[in-house]
Amino acid sequence: MDKRQARPRHYLMCEPTFFEVSYSINPWMNPSCPTSTERGLAQWMTLHDLLVGLEHAVELIEPVAGLPDMVYSANGATVVDGRALVARFRHEERVKESPAYLDWFRARGWEARQAESINEGEGDFLCTGDVVLAGTGFRSEPKAHDEAAEYFGKPVLGLTLIDDRYYHLDTALAVLDDNEIMYHPEAFSPESRMLLEERFPDAILADAHDAAVFGLNAVSDGLHVILAQQAERLPCQLRERGFEPIGVDMTELLKGGGGAKCCTMELREGD
Ligand code: ARG
Repeated sequence: MDKRQARPRHYLMCEPTFFEVSYSINPWMNPSCPTSTERGLAQWMTLHDLLVGLEHAVELIEPVAGLPDMVYSANGATVVDGRALVARFRHEERVKESPAYLDWFRARGWEARQAESINEGEGDFLCTGDVVLAGTGFRSEPKAHDEAAEYFGKPVLGLTLIDDRYYHLDTALAVLDDNEIMYHPEAFSPESRMLLEERFPDAILADAHDAAVFGLNAVSDGLHVILAQQAERLPCQLRERGFEPIGVDMTELLKGGGGAKCCTMELREGD
């Protein structure tokens, strides 16, 4: 196997200045369990500095008071070939994030439009080399898959999630390189599992423990894979394939239902 290469990426992150769990829209969120904004901030900062240290370009969007989930910037949009399809959130609590993202893109000259169907950005839309993998079942609706296919002019493979702990595609599946993925089969419907097996026969399969610590909510640059340090088997499975796993502690932000990947939106420029 040739040595893997990291490709420099461009990410958008949002500092968790207003992070708290004041409502519950996924099974991880328990408003009666105390959260520490300070710890959340420190964990987020470690991730941020790690990405910068790996020579990726990281941009920031201003956090908005009253929008505690804005730290999960992956949900704000999906960006392919310089075109951003901005989220339309399912829950009222997150609806006001969309205009903030739309303004951010437009102010910087990116082509951007808000999705018409319910679409939670890179939470549910993950790009591989030749197909966009799109989740449904809890958040983004199937119509959003057609809308994305049309907007990006790319084939979209729809996948159905069936376990509410894995309510976004990026909690159950990660793209590691152009056509390599890792995922937790039990999070998907039988039909979707078949589709994944057919298309990615060599995928890394995550066990129940590693999925439950959000080990699949990972950020890969083609070589380095940043993932929850609580994952037990995944680091070894990744090393066997020539990747370099880097563990991070995101446990405070997991109280909101997100990990490393949720906190990073990839900005894919056009040619
Ligand atoms: N509390 C947020 C929500 O439920 C967490 C989003 C996590 N982001 C992600 N990309 N999975 O919407």
